[in-house]
Amino acid sequence: MFWIYEVLYALFFIFPAYVANAIPVILGGGRAIDAGRKLSDGKPIFCSHKTIRGLLAGIFAGTLTSAAENVVLQVGALSDLTFPFSFSVWLGFLISCGALIGDLIHSFIKRRIGIAEGRPLPIADQLDFVVGAVLFSFLLSPPPILTIIIIFVITLPAHLLANLFAYITGLKKTPW
Ligand code: CTP
Ligand code: MG
Repeated sequence: MFWIYEVLYALFFIFPAYVANAIPVILGGGRAIDAGRKLSDGKPIFCSHKTIRGLLAGIFAGTLTSAAENVVLQVGALSDLTFPFSFSVWLGFLISCGALIGDLIHSFIKRRIGIAEGRPLPIADQLDFVVGAVLFSFLLSPPPILTIIIIFVITLPAHLLANLFAYITGLKKTPW
């Protein structure tokens, strides 16, 4: 594969996770996943920001994204733009679930080490959903190590820029 294909493959692979992670910012709200419960340390399990609607909307949108990607790849396969790789919607579903569960586990850890909800934990804030997405993908089709490296290299600056954009446009309350 040419390097451009390697980068395209990594982007196609992880894009459903980007969508799954971003959609709750827009569509989230309502009932919290932890229902406001606290652990014995007196801190919330996750936080009031992690909502059931955000979780379900994120998984749905991420899975839909992978379905759309498959259509693009099928159409590409019929023309000169043949991609040397394919995806399944199941993989997109797993990646979307992994992204949001990774985000939740990260939130859980932040509360346990005393970081208040919405406060930053640099690098981990940017990469939590990608770690979850890549780990979940191993259940169906583990990506090559080069793909994983490209995903991590691209995600850090991409996520920082996306969050800054969401902050400036008023979608997010914090720029991280
Ligand atoms: N969100 C949601 N449901 C989820 C995950 C996220 O509704 N399961 C929404 C919330 O509005 C949340 C926003 O997406 O505030 C951004 O998520 P994130 O930055 O990960 O959450 P934080 O509010 O920063 O919480 P934490 O400190 O636990 O990371
Ligand atoms: Mg956050």
